[in-house]
Amino acid sequence: MRIVMLGAPGSGKGTQAQRLQKEHGLPQISTGDLLRKAVADKTALGQRAKKAMDAGELVSDDIVLGMIKERLAQPDAKRGFLLDGFPRNTAQADSLDALLGELNLKLDSVVLLDVDFDVLMKRLTGRRTCSKTGAVLNIYFSPPAELEACRKAGGELIQRADDNEETIRNRLQVYERQTAPLIAYYTKRGLLKTIAATGEVDAIYAKFKGVLGLK
Ligand code: AP5
Repeated sequence: MRIVMLGAPGSGKGTQAQRLQKEHGLPQISTGDLLRKAVADKTALGQRAKKAMDAGELVSDDIVLGMIKERLAQPDAKRGFLLDGFPRNTAQADSLDALLGELNLKLDSVVLLDVDFDVLMKRLTGRRTCSKTGAVLNIYFSPPAELEACRKAGGELIQRADDNEETIRNRLQVYERQTAPLIAYYTKRGLLKTIAATGEVDAIYAKFKGVLGLK
């Protein structure tokens, strides 16, 4: 299965992708995670990307496309993948089409996680990642047992550098301007499946699997 996950920052793309990866072994390919790793490792690419990420702007297409090409060529992506955070504009979507065309492959579905904007701010300011397990958690919404499990594993709850109010506001505007046009783009191609993604994570996951025809 080759799936694109579409949705505003904080809509739950990473949360749902991690679940599907765990249960069905489909690799989650997150351009945000790949870029944050490059920044943390202080690679040349990471240094080029950092300024845009800190401001909540998109990193240039050439950087992101190079990364995606390399990642899709890895063996685990051969039997399918979940793209999380890519494509982010129509130029990236055209490039993905071309790249898959060269490999004689096609996308199966584009899943849009639809969440009201006022919910997104709270989700993003409350987001923390467990330094030990990598679990994406939330100080407002995660069950206390899940937050505690991170501490018990010896982890710390880390806040992403771009999860501050000012940068979040810009990320949401960038989404509206540059990424939301992909909704029409993939609707025209008959690939878009929309899920109302407010409410319990488990209930959203059930809907997510439902639109993909998975049990
Ligand atoms: P990226 O890492 O892709 O960030 P994003 O799109 O802003 O998305 P998020 O990771 O913030 O949100 P998410 O939808 O995954 O939500 P999550 O599951 O974590 O990109 C970061 C930056 O990298 C960009 O700004 C850009 O600079 C650059 N970049 C990345 N890709 C690029 C590209 N293709 N081109 C150019 N630049 C690129 O959930 C959020 C929170 O809500 C969590 O705390 C979670 O626990 C909680 N939550 C989730 N579901 C629920 C629920 N149902 N109820 C309550 N809480 C919930």
